[in-house]
Amino acid sequence: MTDYSRPLESDRDHVWRHLTDYRGPLGPMIVEASGLRVRDARGREYLDATSGGVWCVNVGYGRAEIAQAVYDQLVKMPYFSPTAGNVPAALLAEKLSSHEPSLTRAYYSSSGSEANEKAFKIARLLSSARGNGKERVLYRDRDYHGTTIGALSAAGQGERRSGFGPFAPGFVEAPAVNCYRCPFGKRYPDCSLDCARAVGALLEREEGKVGAAIFETVVAGGGIIVPPPEYWPEVAGLVRAADALLILDEVVTGVGRTGEMFAFQRYGIRPDIVTLAKGLASAYMPISVTWVAERVFEAFRDEAGSEPDGALEDKLHYFRDISTFGGSAAAPAAALACLRIIEEENLLSNVRKQGELLLAGLKETLSHPWVGDARGVGLLCGVEFVADKKTRAPLPEERVVAVAAAMASKGVLVGRTNRSMRGFNNIINFAPAYIATKEDVETIVRVFNEALREAL
Ligand SMILES: Cc1ncc(COP(=O)(O)O)c(C=O)c1O
Repeated sequence: MTDYSRPLESDRDHVWRHLTDYRGPLGPMIVEASGLRVRDARGREYLDATSGGVWCVNVGYGRAEIAQAVYDQLVKMPYFSPTAGNVPAALLAEKLSSHEPSLTRAYYSSSGSEANEKAFKIARLLSSARGNGKERVLYRDRDYHGTTIGALSAAGQGERRSGFGPFAPGFVEAPAVNCYRCPFGKRYPDCSLDCARAVGALLEREEGKVGAAIFETVVAGGGIIVPPPEYWPEVAGLVRAADALLILDEVVTGVGRTGEMFAFQRYGIRPDIVTLAKGLASAYMPISVTWVAERVFEAFRDEAGSEPDGALEDKLHYFRDISTFGGSAAAPAAALACLRIIEEENLLSNVRKQGELLLAGLKETLSHPWVGDARGVGLLCGVEFVADKKTRAPLPEERVVAVAAAMASKGVLVGRTNRSMRGFNNIINFAPAYIATKEDVETIVRVFNEALREAL
C-alpha cells in the first residue's frame, strides 16, 4: 500500500481546507477512487453516497474516456481566451441545446458561483441598458447560489452569510418552499400555495424594480426540498408577469441528478436563464455555464444599438464580462465525454430507477423516533431529523453528525446540511453517482438503518 504519511503531514501543516473547523479532527483525505468507491490515505474504503462530497462526480470515478478526452484536447489546444470560440465549447453548447431547445446560448465560466454572478450581471446590465430601474434580484429563503459576495447576497442560508456582510444591495428575499416546515403554518395540499403567492406579493411590493428572480429548481443544500407540482408553473407565471428574468440554479440538479436532464423539465416551465456547474463534467474538470434563452441574447445584441443618437453608452451595452477560464477547451471536452456516457449508458433511467428504490428504503425509516421526513427525487434524497415528531423540533446538530459519522465508520459516506441554516442543520442527504446499482442502494439503506439503531 502507498505510504501517504508525507502528504498527510503537508496537508495538516499547509493546506487550509474548506468549511473546516480546525479545532476538531480533520476528515479523511481521499487518495484513490473507482466507480462508486473511494479509498482514504489510511487505506479505508467507502461507498460514496455523496458523488464527491458535494454532488458532482455524477458518472462515478475512474472514467478513462473522460481523462482521454481531456488529454487529447490539452495536447491539441488547451486554452484560448473566451473572446474566441473553441471546438469543444461550441459542440457542448449545441449538445446542451439539443436537450432543451428553448435555451440556446452557453456562457462559460468555471464555478457555480460565477455562473450565478453572470446571471445577475446579465439582468442588471439589461436593466441599465433599458433604463427601467429593474436592478433588484429576488431570491428565496433556504436556497444557496454560491460563495462570492454577490451570490451570498442572494443566499437564503443564514450560516453561510453570517459575518460576511455588508452584502450587495438590491437583493430581496422571498419565503421558502418547504412543505415539511411551511413558513405559513399550512399543510399541502390545503394551503392555496401561499409560498408561491408570496413570490407574487413580493414582486408587487417591489413595484416593478425586480429584474430577475433566482431559485434552485429543487433545493439541495437547504435540505432536499422538492416543490409541489403546481409551484413552478405558478411562480414562473408570476415572474413573467412582473417582466423579470426567471433564473433557475441547476448547479446541483442539472444534467440528470433528478432523473430528467434538467429538473425544470419536470414542470413544463421555460426559464430565461439556467446555471449549470458541479456535475456538468462530473467534476473531472471545473466548468460552469450560464445558459440563456435566445431572447436574452438577442436583447443584448439588438437592443444595445437601438439608441437613436448612437451615444457612447450604447456601445457599453453588450455583455462586458469575461472570466479567464471560460476559455478552457479541455473542460467542455470533459463535459461532452460525460454527456456521452450519460446517454450511452442510459443513466437517466438508472437515476429514476435507483432513486425510487432509495427513497422507498429511506421512507421505511419513518417509524424511527428521530426520522421526521424522507423526501427527494431521482438520486437526490434527504432525511430530516427531529427530536419530537409532533412539534417537529429539529434534532440537535451533533446527533445528526453522529448518525453520519456512524455511517462513515461502517463504510458509507453521506452528506448533511453543514453550517447552512441556524438550528436546522438536521438533514442527511444521499446523492450517489448515477451508476449506483440496486446492491449499492440496498447497502446505503442497510447501513443507514444500522447507524440509526446505534445512534439512538
Ligand atoms: C445550488 C448551488 N448553486 C451554486 C453553488 C455554487 O457552486 P460553486 O461552489 O461551484 O461556486 C452551489 C454549491 O454548493 C450550489 O449547491
